[in-house]
Amino acid sequence: MTSIHLSLSSFLSLNAPPRRRHHHQRRLTLTLKLEASSSSTQTMGQESAATTAVEPAVVHRGFKPAARKNLVVRTNPKSDHFPVHRFHHVEFWCGDATNAARRFSWGLGMPLAAKSDLSTGNSAHASYLLRSGELSFLFTAPYSPSIADPSSASIPTFSPSAHLAFTSSHGLAVRAVAIQVDSASSAYAASVARGAIPVSPPALLSDGKTAIAEVHLYGDSVLRYISTAGGANEWLLPGFEPVLNDQELDYGIRRLDHAVGNVPKLEPAAEYLKKFTGFHEFAEFTAADVGTAESGLNSVVLANNNENVLFPLNEPVFGMKRKSQIQTYLEHNEGAGVQHLALVSEDIFKTLREMRKRSSVGGFDFMPLPPPTYYRNLKSRAGDVLSDEQIEECERLGILVDRDDQGTLLQIFTKPVGDRPTIFIEIIQRIGCMMKDEEGKIYQKGACGGFGKGNFSELFRSIEEYEKMLEAKMGTRAAAT
Ligand SMILES: [Fe+2]
Repeated sequence: MTSIHLSLSSFLSLNAPPRRRHHHQRRLTLTLKLEASSSSTQTMGQESAATTAVEPAVVHRGFKPAARKNLVVRTNPKSDHFPVHRFHHVEFWCGDATNAARRFSWGLGMPLAAKSDLSTGNSAHASYLLRSGELSFLFTAPYSPSIADPSSASIPTFSPSAHLAFTSSHGLAVRAVAIQVDSASSAYAASVARGAIPVSPPALLSDGKTAIAEVHLYGDSVLRYISTAGGANEWLLPGFEPVLNDQELDYGIRRLDHAVGNVPKLEPAAEYLKKFTGFHEFAEFTAADVGTAESGLNSVVLANNNENVLFPLNEPVFGMKRKSQIQTYLEHNEGAGVQHLALVSEDIFKTLREMRKRSSVGGFDFMPLPPPTYYRNLKSRAGDVLSDEQIEECERLGILVDRDDQGTLLQIFTKPVGDRPTIFIEIIQRIGCMMKDEEGKIYQKGACGGFGKGNFSELFRSIEEYEKMLEAKMGTRAAAT
């Protein structure tokens, strides 16, 4: 079965009944299912011999220890062509880095952690690095090229002309998704040898040890390889000065879970990325089968060996009553690009309370709340994981809940963060799937609880129920008058 990653952001504003699936829309999904069935999944099996499941209550205090049942064990081909450790940072290119960075800092609770600008001797670009937990967001804008000294740039791949073309075409958007690798130069060479389109050859940063290199990802976005002298935990980029904050700003966001790309055609984009990285298709399972008729898109999720670097890709589906949200994105973004970034919170209730407080004072707006019927049905769907109080809290904050055979996903989407209906943010918390590795270290399996596929059918069902309830009320009122 194929992985289907869905974006529910625009769904919440829909209230149309489900539409029929057309034959031609099924073709690609079917193709991907056939391909994936031989490589990514088995119907039954066991976890890797090197890992064992641990009791969820141990690490998910506050949630009920739901039993895992009907497990569908995924096989992981571990087919990466070079070692990939984790997401390192995401770089936005924008017209004014100061203002973009401050908006995200306030909206997401990510303090300014480092800077590289005129005050640090960089006359080529202003870059501000925000950080919360392991999550790093970098915002970069150019200074006037007429007075800039290109050699003072702290990010050697920065190009004023590429930046100008990028921002005029896309507005505020993600230029680079950076992943930590053993060697940026080896990863670049291995990728280009397997068909990756080169963008920036390996270059050293000012410490003479940290290296970055870039290859084409999709649209005008690049996949950036970074290798650091200090190993996998080094986040401060050479050439940047740390910024000390006496203000505590932390809403609980901890790391990047997945970076989703919208592309015009899924198959070539997925094949391109798979071929040069070796990433495999991550299989997603939910109780309900959700097709393109409900989502208006086809998707696939690509994952690295550790399944902590997740790249879902979406393509639009045509011929539906309502235009695909992916097509809307592609038009407004002038092509492919990053659609959303899913950020893991260690306490989604806290994160949402803090973010909602700031929605109307410089923070981010959220998609409309689901109808009350969604939460009435939630007790039967997730009452074994969430307490009544937690379900009430989900309703108050507009948090959606989905689950797969292994765990539970709490999720919510912001509205697009900038002028255009393009990029937005997802906040998530994953519950369950806690494993112990060979050294006894506890970790959570990647993509535990899925990506929200089941919420499509659940939202349709609850919207229909809600409309019926309203109609019944109107009927009662008409009869009484
Ligand atoms: Fe997502």
